[in-house]
Amino acid sequence: MIAAILKETIVGETRVAATPKTILELIDSGLTVYVESGAGNESCFSDQDYIEAGAQIKEDAKSTLNEANLILKVVPPTLDEIELFPNDTIFISFFQTTNETKTVMKLRDKNITSFSMHLIPRTTLAQSMDALSSQANIAGYKAVLVGASHLSVYMPLLMTAAGTIAPAKVLIIGAGVAGLQAIATANRLGAQVEAFDVRPEVKEQVESLGAKFVEVESENIEGVGEGGYAKETSDDYKKQQELKIKERAMKSDLVITTALIPGKPAPTLINKDIVENMKMGSVIVDLASENGGNCELTQKDEIITHKGVIIDGTSNFPATMQTHASQLYSKNISSFVKHMLKEGELNLDLKDEIIAGAMFTHKGEITHQPTKELISNT
Ligand code: NAI
Repeated sequence: MIAAILKETIVGETRVAATPKTILELIDSGLTVYVESGAGNESCFSDQDYIEAGAQIKEDAKSTLNEANLILKVVPPTLDEIELFPNDTIFISFFQTTNETKTVMKLRDKNITSFSMHLIPRTTLAQSMDALSSQANIAGYKAVLVGASHLSVYMPLLMTAAGTIAPAKVLIIGAGVAGLQAIATANRLGAQVEAFDVRPEVKEQVESLGAKFVEVESENIEGVGEGGYAKETSDDYKKQQELKIKERAMKSDLVITTALIPGKPAPTLINKDIVENMKMGSVIVDLASENGGNCELTQKDEIITHKGVIIDGTSNFPATMQTHASQLYSKNISSFVKHMLKEGELNLDLKDEIIAGAMFTHKGEITHQPTKELISNT
């Protein structure tokens, strides 16, 4: 079986789907690996590194894909790239299938069996394949560093001969994977950190990382949905939450928002009024920009200033820390590929919850129900 590793073509995408280390793992599992020349350059892995790991370097996408059975990428392919895919191959990358319906249809029509790393279930069994978490962790870390560099104030408490500098106040909204890493990073930089989440069960984790948990008064446990994920809260809770966020944001230097309910657009938690009540020079880094943003004024992939408040809507922080992002992503991918292999051959067990969960096209059909419904209703 031949696995093809393509060079990413989208501007700003610097990651790669396999590193020399994971190439060794794929070869050990019985695969032959072709890598498009230069695929790892931006992540600091040279063609020579891949050759030493046992891969064959191919000149361009066409020659990398010619004989491929399995195609690995970071982000979805362009329609032109899919033209080069041999029919009946297997394809894996990050893929928001409901946002990329044209691409999904093209994969279906070429009989490609496609898997999205977005759809890998966040279960204990699938932990080593959980690319959303590995990349969100990086985003949480980098959001704090970028936020700190937008600020015109220090992060830590400083006692100097010219006076005492108070630590910066950082508010993290959403204490999932990205949020917890952001708390830990801001705390390490010496800031005074507080965090808010609709799931009260994260209070202990927030406090164990040295932050204060901001609570919204509520008679019921509101934000806890299936599988421990967040769910939509009542209008009354939302009102209380808005007041609490406004009160805390007005005192903060840096606000990092990471709130997400799986499968839904990002909830708007910081409206224009809240922004206009924040201090001049304060900063919002909105990690949810890809899905519409947690701040009403966020513009995806733009850094704007509104009445003295800087709002950063960078949607791909992992690509700014590409060596480690590629290292972790390619490990997630290789664990998933190994999960599907039996003695060097693919064993697509459709009863397996990880394989079935991540699959979205197979044998000329769209297998991800919400995507199928969306396409048939348009
Ligand atoms: P997660 O699901 O682990 O965490 C989201 C958290 O938000 C959960 O703890 C949930 O309870 C909380 N939440 C949901 N609704 C809320 C509300 N109304 N108020 C307060 N908290 C609420 O998600 P993860 O993996 O940490 O990702 C967070 C966000 O970061 C996502 O939007 C994801 O797309 C984004 N992301 C952004 C990147 C970037 O470079 N900008 C890169 C990777 C992820």
